[in-house]
Amino acid sequence: MKEKDYYRKRHHPQRNFSEANVRLYNTILDLDIKTIFEFGCGIGRHIERLSSWGYEVNGCDISPKCVKEAKKNDLKVFIGDETKLHKVGKKDLVFTNSVLCHMSNPTQAIKHLERIASKYLIFCECVTKDNDFWWIHDYKGKVIHTIDSHLDNGATYKIYLCEF
Ligand SMILES: C[S@@+](CC[C@H](N)C(=O)[O-])C[C@H]1O[C@@H](n2cnc3c(N)ncnc32)[C@H](O)[C@@H]1O
Repeated sequence: MKEKDYYRKRHHPQRNFSEANVRLYNTILDLDIKTIFEFGCGIGRHIERLSSWGYEVNGCDISPKCVKEAKKNDLKVFIGDETKLHKVGKKDLVFTNSVLCHMSNPTQAIKHLERIASKYLIFCECVTKDNDFWWIHDYKGKVIHTIDSHLDNGATYKIYLCEF
């Protein structure tokens, strides 16, 4: 099955929060921002939390099932992949969590996300010991710092924080 068809049919009911997610939130809370866009938001667990903290958050995901569930919680999300990102205007912060590593070619997505981000961009992506994800974390943008968060299964979450 083609990569996109696979994700269109899937539903990722992730609700728990890992140590890497807490690091992501701590990174976001330190920034002077109001508006946020999440690419590949799944059922919207981060959007829900960040909205409850007062941020104005929007997102999109390729999976209609995920977006339907997110909408039940009144989250501002739409069904779409990187080909729909031209519809999104500037936001203070753009982030992804565990999305680009699932894409065989994230170039178009990264180009749009860099355009949408007026202040900051965060890529929080998983790298396994064997690098068996598609994207192997070679982002060459304006990285301020990277944070490594090691998981029990030997994988690492790498958080790239970039300033524009
Ligand atoms: C591991 S889940 C992470 C979901 C969410 N970011 C989170 O942390 O809860 C990966 C998500 O990326 C979405 N995805 C995969 N490829 C995508 C693409 N090309 N455009 C938009 N979303 C995509 C999947 O549908 C899935 O919801």
